[in-house]
Order: sequence, then C-alpha cells, then structure tokens
Amino acid sequence: MNAITIDGPAASGKSTVGYLVGQRLDFLFFDTGVMYRAVAWAILDRGIDSADIGAVGRVAGQLPIGVKAPGADAGDGRQATIHVGGVDVTWSIRSPRVDSIVSVVAANRLVREALSRKQRLIGLEHGSGAAEEAGVVMVGRDIGTVVLPEAPLKIYLEAPLEERARRRFRELVERGNEADFARILDDMRLRDQIDSERAVAPLRPARDAYQIRTDGVSAVEVVEQILPLAVKHLGVAPSSPRKQGPSGDSSPGAGRDCGIIAGSF
Ligand code: DC
Repeated sequence: MNAITIDGPAASGKSTVGYLVGQRLDFLFFDTGVMYRAVAWAILDRGIDSADIGAVGRVAGQLPIGVKAPGADAGDGRQATIHVGGVDVTWSIRSPRVDSIVSVVAANRLVREALSRKQRLIGLEHGSGAAEEAGVVMVGRDIGTVVLPEAPLKIYLEAPLEERARRRFRELVERGNEADFARILDDMRLRDQIDSERAVAPLRPARDAYQIRTDGVSAVEVVEQILPLAVKHLGVAPSSPRKQGPSGDSSPGAGRDCGIIAGSF
C-alpha cells in the first residue's frame, strides 16, 4: 500500500510538509482536518449547538463535502478547494469561530464514525494504486492510529505550543485577519487538550510512527527527513524539488497545484 500518514497537533507543520511530500512522490495530498472544519462551519451556519451530539452527528453523516484541486481559484495560498453543497468554504472553515468549536465537533463519536469511514475509503482507494496518483499522503490526528493503521510509513510531527501559536498568528496576519497572540495561545492549548483527551481516537503517535520535531528546522528540511523513510518503507523514488509559481504549476493530481510557499510553515 502506498500510503503515508502524518499526524500531530495543530500547526505542527502537517499540511505544509504533507503537501510537499505528496508533490515529491506524485501522491495525492489529503488534509482530513478540512472535513471536521466543514462540519463545524455547517452547524454554525445552521445554528446547531455544538453540544447536541445527535444533531451534529446527523449533519456529519449527510453533509456533501467536496475536496478538489484548486483550479482558477489557485494562487491565494489554498492547498485544495473545499465545498459544502455549492458553497466554497475554503477560507471560512479557517475562521476563529470555526476554530473555537471544531475540537468539540471532532470529539463527537458520531462525527468521527461518519468522517473516519469516508477517510478510510479515500485512503484505501488512493493508496492502492487504483487511482490516478501513485499513492496518498493523509494528514490529521488519528490517521496512523485509526484511519489507516496499516500504512507502511507513519509520521508524527510535533513542536512546542508557543512555536505553533506563533505560526498560527503569522498565518492569520498574512491572510489579512486580526490576530491576538495571547488568545491564539490559549485557544490552541485548549484544542490540544480536547484533541488528546477525547475518548474516541485521541491525538497520539502510533506505536510505529517516526516522531519528528519541526521547530528550528524548515519545512523542506523535514521533507528531506521523510523522503528517505518513504524510499525505505514504500520503495518509491522521489522526484527532485519543483520550482513553484505563484499560481501553482501544472503537476497532476488534487491538492498539488497550488502556490504554497515551500520552506515556511
Ligand atoms: O488540523 P486541523 O486544525 O485543521 O483540525 C481541525 C480539528 O479537527 C482539530 O480539532 C482536530 C480535528 N481532527 C481530528 O480530530 N482528526 C483528524 N483526522 C483531523 C482533524
């Protein structure tokens, strides 16, 4: 199976690193966090209380979430375009309001059952060589432990809380949002706690995961640590790093055509 799982806490570098690893291996990159965020966005939109386990679970079971390679909308830094129904929610699922409830939504066992089943199907399809891509890099909190435990390479990224909060702060400012560092730090501490103490599929490294620190190193250096592990465990051959234009290059496959800035988290 050609699947690499990357788990870790918020802003540990999973998406940046996972995206670049996907590019080098011609693998689909799939950030599963967007599905939990889409459910959180939908319940805010519909005025549903995040504590209502049954109602939130029903939304998760029925929500039409689309994840596609960015097309004409690439170039604003997105790694993928996320739709709920016909609405492009790519950026609204990253809002502070969604941030503030998404951990509670992700701790709901009905939500997890619905979403991790779908994620597993995506992982099996794209990791089996049946799809267009050579494999899949799947990113989240429980991919190595629950969603794709049979993946031949599992990575767990970590960085100190303050460093991760600084990254999130920078991200928000760069996107033109208002950001309060102390608040981001507190929210992230709380999200870490909810993600790692929940009863179902808590955040933790798989027993056979490689644990890699991402503070004090660039994303590209982390990628360079992971690629030899992919060669060893999957027997794949990475391509050389590609130059990326502001609106992406023409590489094939979902999530790999956007202009993410290599080397920064
Ligand atoms: O990685 P992120 O910040 O976009 O994730 C949003 C939330 O979803 C976060 O609270 C963790 C949760 N999540 C999860 O529980 N399992 C996953 N596989 C991915 C994300």
